[in-house]
Amino acid sequence: MPDVRTYPDASTLARAAAEHFVALAQEAVSTHGRFAVALAGGSTPRATYALLATSEFASRVDWTRVHIFWGDERCVPPDHPDSNYRTAREALLDHIPVPPDHVHRIQGEIEPALAAAAYERMLQVFFAPGQPRFDLILLGLGDDGHTASLFPGTAAIHEQTRWVVGHHVSKLNAWRVTLTLVAINAAVNVIFLVSGAAKAGRLSQVLTGPYQPDLLPSQIVRPTNGRLSWLVDSAAAALLKLK
Ligand code: 6PG
Repeated sequence: MPDVRTYPDASTLARAAAEHFVALAQEAVSTHGRFAVALAGGSTPRATYALLATSEFASRVDWTRVHIFWGDERCVPPDHPDSNYRTAREALLDHIPVPPDHVHRIQGEIEPALAAAAYERMLQVFFAPGQPRFDLILLGLGDDGHTASLFPGTAAIHEQTRWVVGHHVSKLNAWRVTLTLVAINAAVNVIFLVSGAAKAGRLSQVLTGPYQPDLLPSQIVRPTNGRLSWLVDSAAAALLKLK
């Protein structure tokens, strides 16, 4: 059973997530001099990003040692309202002293396959000579059980070699660029943030239901040599019957 921590509400969840971020950043910087973190998109992490931008949290992180990446991106320009980069920039990056060359965004504005190849090359250089070992990857849980941009029924969830793929998601009729499970499961820490009653059924299915990777890609997230944690609020955990 993965490590599931339940918080009374969304704001307590966001605060706990910010505390985890700070603790893991301090640990990574003290053990190997840098903190490589991949941010999640969507709406749930915004409150956490906004908290990290406050002096209460920002003052406890050496941002000059932090490298910011993304788990996935929508194929839109960086100033587009749907851009995961824009979401993080407005909530966090514009408010912290992270060096601009430590912000490694996915180029949602170019051809998806080219954006994916460029991102993978950048990761290969950054993590050379080894596997992509992020210190932390933040993930969300989609209503359909997707995570990052690994959607049910897509070939991307079965990728065995590439670290990043660009693919068309027919149910969205949209293109996405996403880390694959090769990269996600190589991380030191993976933390899912899940909030709200709308996620309760899916969360219970993912955590306690039968293993159905094609239907519930979030179930395939199992760090090979790392920690997996689920930080959820009580509304999302309402149907969870943890053993
Ligand atoms: C994205 C995300 C996606 C997200 C889930 C949950 O780009 O949309 O990376 O995987 O985390 O869809 O989204 P919410 O937090 O908005 O529910």
